[in-house]
Amino acid sequence: MPLQIVRNDITKMKVDAIVNAANNSLLGGGGVDGAIHSAAGPDLLEECRRLNGCKTGDAKITKAYCLPCSYVIHTVGPRWQGGGYNEEKLLESCYINSLNLAKKYKCESVAFPLISSGVYRYPKDQALKVAINTISDFLLENDMTVYIVIFDKKSYQISEKLFSDIKAYIDDKYVKDYEDTKNEYRRDLQILEEYTFSSEAKLLDTGEKKSGSLENALDQIDESFSQMLLRKIDELGMTDAQCYKKANIDRKLFSKIRSNKFYKPSKATVLAFALALELPLDEMEDMLMKAGFAFSPSSKFDIIVQYFVEQGNYKVYEINEALFAFDQNLIGG
Ligand code: APR
Repeated sequence: MPLQIVRNDITKMKVDAIVNAANNSLLGGGGVDGAIHSAAGPDLLEECRRLNGCKTGDAKITKAYCLPCSYVIHTVGPRWQGGGYNEEKLLESCYINSLNLAKKYKCESVAFPLISSGVYRYPKDQALKVAINTISDFLLENDMTVYIVIFDKKSYQISEKLFSDIKAYIDDKYVKDYEDTKNEYRRDLQILEEYTFSSEAKLLDTGEKKSGSLENALDQIDESFSQMLLRKIDELGMTDAQCYKKANIDRKLFSKIRSNKFYKPSKATVLAFALALELPLDEMEDMLMKAGFAFSPSSKFDIIVQYFVEQGNYKVYEINEALFAFDQNLIGG
């Protein structure tokens, strides 16, 4: 999954580079700056002294010393002054300059804190949006794994309106009585098995027995998940890369799916592609069925995805912001 939101202490992240939300002096401070310096040890400060500070929006790189990563990229976010002092552009350049520096140093994985959202008081939901939008734009053109590291629940916030809308939608759709839905869900899968078996049996009875082995019969059965995926990519005139990047799926996983028509994806992977293809709900359910899944009214994950599809919002990265806020797994693979 190229862009992940994780709960962790950034000083514990085993990635190629972690990003420090520093101040202009680069001589340490509180918050994540303080945590990184105390975990890295005094040599980090010594190297920072030789950097002669850093302008807001810029980024500079050092070694990581005692940290479990190879580099620390120091960037200085804007102090929030109400939004009229170019704060958004400066925050965007923190992410862009840090990512470009990581790319220059051939980093394959980078971890960011939510820059400016602590002491610098940038509204957390807006700071998250800038981070997600800037990083996802970069990932459309570059192969890298990027983590947004959330230190604690209170430092993570999506917009209040969005949160309450989704909460109301879940309350409305979420079926508490799991028994019913489990049976219903089992019935759906039963239908799937009967459907698959009967079309296979039908084919074998129509003289396929003579000419074809079971292999031929399987080939004849309705298209598989990956065949439907590749067909839809062609029909929509998308390139493979456009599709898997929009789906927050890495290239390796996509090539596994492309090369095996019976590939069995996870539900989150199916939904990632269905969203990238912007399928209407009925086609989304069809794609899920081909992979052996169905939407379940007792799954908050499913309900949140359906909420966004009904709103016409297919942006996997934005849906992941909400899924993370509701402690659900993220979409992608
Ligand atoms: N791991 C991950 N994230 C962390 C950690 C940690 N160990 N510690 C704090 N954070 C989070 C905060 O919860 C916040 O969401 O990092 C985000 C950024 O908060 P700050 O560290 O306060 O950084 P910022 O708001 O950019 O202010 C920078 O604070 O520490 C000083 O020297 C720094 O003057 C500079 C200012």
